[in-house]
Amino acid sequence: MSTPSPDLPIHPEQPSPHGHATPAPLPLSPPPLSLYVHMPWCVRKCPYCDFNSHEGKGALPFDAYVDALLADLDHDLPLASGRTVHSVFFGGGTPSLFRPEHVDRFLQGASARLRFAPGCEITLETNPGTAEHGRFEGYRDAGVNRLSFGIQSFDDGCLQRLGRIHDSGEARAAVRMAQDAGLSNLNLDLMYALPGQSLAMALDDLEQAFALEPAHISHYQLTLEPNTVFAARPPAGIPDDDDSWDMQEHCQQRLAARGYAQYEVSAYARPGRQCAHNLNYWRYGDYLGIGAGAHGKLTLGFDQAILRRWKLKHPTAWMAAAGSAQAIGGDDRIDADRRPFEFMLNALRLAEGFDLALFEARTGLPRDAIAAALARAQALGWLAVDGDHVQPTELGRRFNNDVVSLFL
Ligand SMILES: C[S@@+](CC[C@H](N)C(=O)[O-])C[C@H]1O[C@@H](n2cnc3c(N)ncnc32)[C@H](O)[C@@H]1O
Ligand code: SF4
Repeated sequence: MSTPSPDLPIHPEQPSPHGHATPAPLPLSPPPLSLYVHMPWCVRKCPYCDFNSHEGKGALPFDAYVDALLADLDHDLPLASGRTVHSVFFGGGTPSLFRPEHVDRFLQGASARLRFAPGCEITLETNPGTAEHGRFEGYRDAGVNRLSFGIQSFDDGCLQRLGRIHDSGEARAAVRMAQDAGLSNLNLDLMYALPGQSLAMALDDLEQAFALEPAHISHYQLTLEPNTVFAARPPAGIPDDDDSWDMQEHCQQRLAARGYAQYEVSAYARPGRQCAHNLNYWRYGDYLGIGAGAHGKLTLGFDQAILRRWKLKHPTAWMAAAGSAQAIGGDDRIDADRRPFEFMLNALRLAEGFDLALFEARTGLPRDAIAAALARAQALGWLAVDGDHVQPTELGRRFNNDVVSLFL
């Protein structure tokens, strides 16, 4: 547990123009920087998915998309000048539709523009239905050192009901192909509370995942997202809330027993194998977001601001504008009033919680700004505060949304 930074000056509270006391700001210094790269196409749109993903029709313009990514990066570069990138994440959509030479060209271009930290984690999301011989060696040679597989389930009936393009045998074969290529830092995405799924089936999915010995498992409850086929026509046999809760509890226990420690709401890892990229989000770190619909968050030391920037969502519109200000969907400066909520929305997802010194460094606000809300959460048994350290209790993890809303 760390103590408050001795460098942080103590600021007296200053009266605001509205009469009530506003905590004076602390210096904002840029946190670690990550790079998110969005790749928007999929073979087929899954009926539950609300990601910015589009069914690829005909020949896809992969080369032009990589050109546009580099142009987009060039345009955002002044926001991150002189900073080091600590992780890269190719997310989708289905990044594994891009061939290794595309990924290689992008990474070469990005590392010519930005300094990459030694050992920088570089993750690529992979749909098992796109695996083919030689592809993983190519990604590895391009610099990718972590793959995240969208497995969802090992039950062929469940996979069919989810509209997936692969069966369980293809999923297993894809993971083994990656391991044979020497890629050992693998995440498997699984979903539970699926249509027609029992507790025994959810536990069996975990057993099948353990057999592949991944470093990391993401375990998501299926949610019916607005504007998806499943939201419009919910499939039969979705487990009710009690059954879903039961599944979550039993699966958490099974994951822990097999050495996968839960470090975030849906993330479980073997020791030392947490996802550095996602940890940076949850610790309210910075990230450049490039590609169609990508979101970024940047701390601007020179004008003491936190900027959120997102790009045009549709791939064709974004590609046509990439490299210019027209590719920006919006910019939003996060003023001091909104920072506590944003910080908590992320940091309270972490089982380990956070240090108040981190809150101060990331938000530029003194801890007094959240003292009342912290005391309330403590009184309700939702947060435990020990000196500088704040951690959600078991109850607080269960009622995460309520806890976070105290900081609105
Ligand atoms: C961008 S996808 C992963 C890579 C690739 N597109 C694939 O599906 O194979 C990210 C993950 O989010 C999860 N996911 C997507 N929609 C979800 C939903 N409605 N409820 C819960 N999890 C969801 C899935 O586990 C999925 O693998
Ligand atoms: S393959 Fe992945 S990103 Fe594409 S539609 Fe399915 S879940 Fe969404």
